[in-house]
Amino acid sequence: MQVFHSKKELRNSLSSFNTKNHTIGMVPTMGALHQGHLVLVKRAFLEHNCVVVSIFVNPTQFNNNDDLRKYPNTLDKDVQLLKTISDKIIVFAPTANEIYAGKIKSNSYQFNGLDTLMEGKFRAGHFNGVATIVELLLNAVMPDMAYFGEKDFQQLQIIKKLVQIAAIPIKIRGCPIVREPNGLAMSSRNERLSEEARKNVGFIYKILKSAKKKFGTKSAIYTIHWVQNQFKKKPDFKLEYFQITNIDTLTPVLRKQKGKKYRAFVAVYIEGVRLIDNIALN
Ligand code: PAF
Repeated sequence: MQVFHSKKELRNSLSSFNTKNHTIGMVPTMGALHQGHLVLVKRAFLEHNCVVVSIFVNPTQFNNNDDLRKYPNTLDKDVQLLKTISDKIIVFAPTANEIYAGKIKSNSYQFNGLDTLMEGKFRAGHFNGVATIVELLLNAVMPDMAYFGEKDFQQLQIIKKLVQIAAIPIKIRGCPIVREPNGLAMSSRNERLSEEARKNVGFIYKILKSAKKKFGTKSAIYTIHWVQNQFKKKPDFKLEYFQITNIDTLTPVLRKQKGKKYRAFVAVYIEGVRLIDNIALN
């Protein structure tokens, strides 16, 4: 399997794929790969004859140094895991200086408010960091399509907006959340939970599913209060937010309107680990 650390070497290797008969699928990641990532990689392989997985822990999207410091760096293990799918996968694992060309700083984007709600509100500068690195990675790889998980649904909407405003001719494909048997959305952060917490966090998805049911017959505001009360009864869980939003604008909704699509979003701390999840409501 080929692992490239420099943009130039990567481009040399990919030049033969930028032709009519080949298409490139890309899965951008920060490593610490799990089944959720592997599902994206397999999906990319079904639709393209060349798949690039980027592995880069992006410093500019962390608003908390401790979180960045604790983020697992497991390149060798990740490469072994990808080999179990195919040794034809190309891994792009640049250094920060290489991908940022020496200027490790976020750009400032205008996402029409998509970036100031929910994750954007609680993680200042996060989405400018995400958009900056995604733009750099897409421009380095130049895939036909890039795959992102819906666990980070707000990120996915922002990346769709990014390719529009930066006129990057790449299709963005969102893929369903992959869950553990108890419903916990797969995430590299789950590794930081104790055995005990990992068992109990199934509660988050259980509440999301119940919220979806409630939302079928009750108002948005009723559903929000109901969810907040469920978390109040669980002292191990510290609810940061639960919000019901319009799926396109991500603006909070208190009253339902006919014909509109809604999604519920949650961010919760357990054992100091911040977990996010979401569910389509209709
Ligand atoms: O979702 C992630 O893993 C990261 O935010 C991404 C998109 C790879 C950018 O660093």
